[in-house]
Amino acid sequence: MKEILVTGGTGYIGSHTVVELHNAGYKPIIIDNLSNSNIRILDQIEKIIGYKPEFYEFDLCEEQKVIEFVNSHPNIQGIIHFAASKAVGESVQEPLKYYRNNFFSLINLLQAYQQKPIHFVFSSSCTVYGEPDILPVTEEAPVKKATSPYGNTKQIAEEILEEIATAKDNYQIIALRYFNPVGAHDSGLIGELPIGVPQNLLPFITQTAIGKREELTVFGGDYDTPDGTCIRDYIHVVDLAKAHVAAIQRMEEGKSAAKYEVYNVGTGNGYSVLEAIKAFEKYAGQSLNYKIGPRREGDIEKVWGDVNKSQKELNWKAKLGIDEMMSSAWKWENYLKENPIQ
Ligand code: WQD
Repeated sequence: MKEILVTGGTGYIGSHTVVELHNAGYKPIIIDNLSNSNIRILDQIEKIIGYKPEFYEFDLCEEQKVIEFVNSHPNIQGIIHFAASKAVGESVQEPLKYYRNNFFSLINLLQAYQQKPIHFVFSSSCTVYGEPDILPVTEEAPVKKATSPYGNTKQIAEEILEEIATAKDNYQIIALRYFNPVGAHDSGLIGELPIGVPQNLLPFITQTAIGKREELTVFGGDYDTPDGTCIRDYIHVVDLAKAHVAAIQRMEEGKSAAKYEVYNVGTGNGYSVLEAIKAFEKYAGQSLNYKIGPRREGDIEKVWGDVNKSQKELNWKAKLGIDEMMSSAWKWENYLKENPIQ
């Protein structure tokens, strides 16, 4: 069975990708320092796939540990690298934490694999486009100056990866630019597990509906959009997880057209904050307590992706719509109510 290393594999997108790798016949091996995830997610994964995946708890910033891991796992053929700090607001307060965590880990991994052929999938973000001039935004759109250290780590990491793939024969790399991942596994056994007050829309909606939060504030009702609220391309986390498997398969099958490739991973559809709330209300069968508040600093007005390139070249397409996103997120929140994971 082909072994794929999943860094950050107990996290939100990582855990769903572990499940999809298993479903596609791979053996996922996880490294995670549990800085933003919970060890119990391994038990949850076991409930879905029937066994507990191989797991190593350490920080990828520790170079020696990375080298030891690589030496003791000679059969790993691919790496899906999720492990990174990802809170936009925190990155503005603590830039060095972001540059340190996100770059040291990336460089240690790349360095440890210098002598071996390796397929590498990187978690990037549509944040690299900033406020796009043309919608839907294609992979050819210019990368705009990052508005946060977090966004800057994604931009610089993409540059590092392109340079290293060009310079060294052994690396084959795909960067996936995610739009807004939401939802949960349809089993309701894994999903997003925000620590503290959620910064993202969907967990804030579900936590408000279940009674953990009093009220959702919609950040801005005066944008230049049909209902005045921001528009995003929400993508179901299970579809997103499958895009990683498709990226690994493309490289494995030798289909890559360049040493470094970039793909948008979204649905190609935009939904406003109010549309997302309405879709949620329909599925939860209850109305949500929300108010329109001031804009959030740094928010993009509207962004959604052109997904033609990923559909054609990755042979992947998002299949799940807004209904499945909402219903699965709600199922997960209800699961957590009965079975808290702390
Ligand atoms: C979505 C929409 C908010 C919370 C961020 C990162 C990005 C990425 C995904 C990360 C916006 C509105 C939100 C709330 C609201 N990568 N909102 N009330 O900002 O598109 O992207 O997360 O890991 O890099 O920037 O996602 O979920 O925060 O917001 O009205 O309480 O919901 O204004 O329009 P965003 P989000």
